[in-house]
Amino acid sequence: MDLPPGPTAPAIWQTIAWMTRPGAFLRRVHARFGDPATIRTYWTEEPMVLFSSPEAVRDVFRLDPAIAPAGQSWEFVRPFAGPHSILLLDGDEHLRERRLMAGPFHGERMRELTLQIILRVVFGARDDELTALRRAIDDTLATVRSLPSLLAMAVVRKDLGPQSPWGRFRVAVERFDAILFELLARRRDRTGEDDSMLAVLLDQRDEHGNPPSDRHLRDQLVALLVGGHDESAASLAWAFERLARYPAVQARLREGNPDYLDAVVKESLRIRPALTIAPRLLLEPVQVAGHWIPAKTQLAACIWLACRREDLWPQAGQFRPERWLDDEPAPNPMSWIPFGGGVRRCAGAPFAEMEMREVLRAAAGLTLRPARRDAERARRSMLVLVPHRGAEVFVG
Ligand code: HEM
Repeated sequence: MDLPPGPTAPAIWQTIAWMTRPGAFLRRVHARFGDPATIRTYWTEEPMVLFSSPEAVRDVFRLDPAIAPAGQSWEFVRPFAGPHSILLLDGDEHLRERRLMAGPFHGERMRELTLQIILRVVFGARDDELTALRRAIDDTLATVRSLPSLLAMAVVRKDLGPQSPWGRFRVAVERFDAILFELLARRRDRTGEDDSMLAVLLDQRDEHGNPPSDRHLRDQLVALLVGGHDESAASLAWAFERLARYPAVQARLREGNPDYLDAVVKESLRIRPALTIAPRLLLEPVQVAGHWIPAKTQLAACIWLACRREDLWPQAGQFRPERWLDDEPAPNPMSWIPFGGGVRRCAGAPFAEMEMREVLRAAAGLTLRPARRDAERARRSMLVLVPHRGAEVFVG
């Protein structure tokens, strides 16, 4: 069984293109090889087959997790995420964890912004606690955010001591854990006093009535942080980068129509999705949209292409929230997949959309102008794509 065609350049070149110019790389691969296409990077051990048509995306998200698990795709964050993390588990353990973690997303518990917000909402952290946690997380993530570190970590996948990239990551994680375990000890002493997600997680009981261990709680909290912080921050940065270049959209947003606000959020997530792929590791050969794909392949619904393909979205390159309003045909839900899909669909999607709506609503009164005329390119920062100049806008 052959893999679909793809670039023949050495894996190191494909890795560099994937990391430094991810948007352009995916566009070129699609233009040259169509759908599906196979890429080879150091990001994963196996070759990766990218699919982006709605039929293929539906097939990928429907695959049985026993045949196409996704937990290993977050392997990269394992030292930080921890072994009990929902991000890394598969099968029954994963579903059990999803059920347990649904608790914090219920009701009115969700308010405020990305790291600050997530720290307050998830941990109920305030003042000194908030500062200490923020610093520890920034230090931890800083070790994996820079492009040289990311490349070095993708190529040399070993901890070669505290000065090496993986070693620096480990030391930062240990420092973060120490702060977190202290916080957990304090919180266990005063349950019932706050309404944070942590308080809800502390109340969890497994099927035998046991409360979660500190390690388990720690991994749940980090999954919420890793899942909830960078993606939201990147998506908001892109929303501002795009809005600044579309004064007519800003003007309409200012009118205060909630449907339009929602459309702006959906369109930002479409035109600049924070993650490029939703990958699954194939353990057995499967058929996706009529193509047989062999085992030991990474199969990815390519979020970036599905959300931006010209044949799926009229004027795909245009930031046009109007396409989400009632007077235009509804987009195919299988081509709008910024939150992935199937049993691994983003656990925080409603929270993330609400967070974006609230920020954009609050900012709607401002006039945004781009600091420079040319649009910002996408660059990688750990797992997410961010504007390469950090979304430079003048606010007036
Ligand atoms: C705009 C912001 C966000 C985007 C674009 C985003 C996107 C994604 C994507 C693409 C996945 C993988 C889906 C798949 O493989 O099919 C994912 C998983 C996940 N996300 Fe998000 N996410 C965002 C915000 C959040 C927030 C705010 C939280 C939590 C507060 C969160 C928690 C998670 C978790 C726990 C998972 C793993 C789910 C699982 O493996 O079962 N995310 N997210």
